Amino acid sequence: MKQKTFYITTPIYYASGNLHIGHAYTTTICDTIAGYKKMRGYDVYYLTGTDEHGEKVQKKAAAAGLTPQAFVDDLVVNIKNLWQVLRIQNNDFIRTTEARHQATVSAIFSQLLAQGDIYKGEYEGWYCTPCEAFWTESQLHEGHLCPDCGRPVYRATEETYFFRMSKYADQLIRYYNDHPGFIEPESRKNEMMNNFLLPGLEDLSVSRTSFDWGIPVQEDPKHVVYVWIDALSNYISALGYKNDSSNLFDRFWHNDDDHEILHVVGKEIVRFHVIYWPIMLLALGLPLPTKIFAHGWIVMKDGKMSKSVGNVVYPEMLIARYGLDALRYFVTTCIPFGQDGLFTPELFLENVNTDLVNNYGNLVSRTAAMIQKYTQGVVPTYAGVKTPFDADLEAAMLQAKVQYEHAMDAFHIDQGARAAFELLSKANKYIDDTQPWALAKDPNQTAALQSVLTHLALVIKAGTILLSPFLIDAPQRVYASYGITDTHYDHAFDWHGMDGAIVTKAAALFPRLDLTLESEYIRRQMGGQ
Ligand code: MSP
Repeated sequence: MKQKTFYITTPIYYASGNLHIGHAYTTTICDTIAGYKKMRGYDVYYLTGTDEHGEKVQKKAAAAGLTPQAFVDDLVVNIKNLWQVLRIQNNDFIRTTEARHQATVSAIFSQLLAQGDIYKGEYEGWYCTPCEAFWTESQLHEGHLCPDCGRPVYRATEETYFFRMSKYADQLIRYYNDHPGFIEPESRKNEMMNNFLLPGLEDLSVSRTSFDWGIPVQEDPKHVVYVWIDALSNYISALGYKNDSSNLFDRFWHNDDDHEILHVVGKEIVRFHVIYWPIMLLALGLPLPTKIFAHGWIVMKDGKMSKSVGNVVYPEMLIARYGLDALRYFVTTCIPFGQDGLFTPELFLENVNTDLVNNYGNLVSRTAAMIQKYTQGVVPTYAGVKTPFDADLEAAMLQAKVQYEHAMDAFHIDQGARAAFELLSKANKYIDDTQPWALAKDPNQTAALQSVLTHLALVIKAGTILLSPFLIDAPQRVYASYGITDTHYDHAFDWHGMDGAIVTKAAALFPRLDLTLESEYIRRQMGGQ
């Protein structure tokens, strides 16, 4: 059977400052989804990268006394380094200043110009510099403020090329209606329909003459290509569209039963991904992505993270003190899909203690200790169900598998992790219910005791495999100390999968965190940055 393909992308992040936990959130979600799909046998391609052009970058570089290229080169080193620290398994990293990307953007612009979808005109509107977006009067917030970032906008006129968005509006609306699930959550789709599509889509200004840090329009080089047209093209330039002879584009850019394309984006850039990008693709005669998945923000008690408020959380600090798994666990598991999620030091620490320390870590160490003590470190051979508790636990395992797959297949990864943690928690309760230490004292209960140990080992194996797209270090340690060599997903629930495995004792998976001490520590670090 032909392997199904899965192409997943993050937004390309602005190379204008160091990235924080919000960016790490998106990139880790995508890494987890990519890991899950790989585990399920898909041919996966995972792309991330950086958005390096535009007025903002040009200004920041000037302020730092650097050329824009030198400025972005420095930042990209930090960004790539951060993804290494987070052990992100991206297949490629696209930079919009790369020649391959520029070639694609130029080719796209030229084609659209040649076919009359792009035409020259004059633009007058309200411009927001930080967002690099023009707004119409009716879109502005009261006091002439940008509807996206809330900052003041200014009146601007310039000669510009326009993209005939209006020509494709009806086709796009039809596409939305024919493809439920194209935009998730559904509420975002309604927002887009009501705010942009139904009132009538205006043609989009797609070139600038007011600055020059961008890809020049070949046919009229005083213009540079508008940063969003430049940026959105990354999703296909990285696959070699119109810039090389690799077969990546051909392999991954399809949308049918055997090929999925998923763009994961923050809610503030949905508009660009569900209106401008699909229209570009329609104009180019290319398939549209399978799904645009808009997630919420990580927010602080005092609102969005910002350097001036002094509430920015950098992932490096949390990883250095609590380990990579704690960070990856928090961002993937503790923020509900599609909604904003609060970060406070207490929430972070309490969650780590509840799920990783008291639940997962505790189950692993309790079970290892019992297997050592009662069966000389060897997992007894599975002998079917011995007690009603065994039957319940087996049912819980099968239920966890169904819930996990259902949630993960829908990319609701927080719920996928929840299914795994609930299973582990049931296994902890199973220990309390079956009381292996009491069974060990009764020679007539040997079979029941052995069955408990086997079932616990089976849950640990299955739970660890389910969590393996989320966590990096803990699964490896559990596999090593439980003698698990076959970690294939299709064998995660084999009843004989742990027969005779040799269990060695290992150091605690996760140290318990002192809430008072550690919340003070995190606060100090946040203030100090
Ligand atoms: N360069 C554009 C995207 C172009 S994609 C063709 C951009 N860059 S950005 O650096 O501002 O990154 C925005 C993305 O970073 C968000 O869409 C989101 O995925 C992530 N996040 C940034 N801050 C975040 C939070 N506080 N919380 C969650 N995600 C956050 O926009």
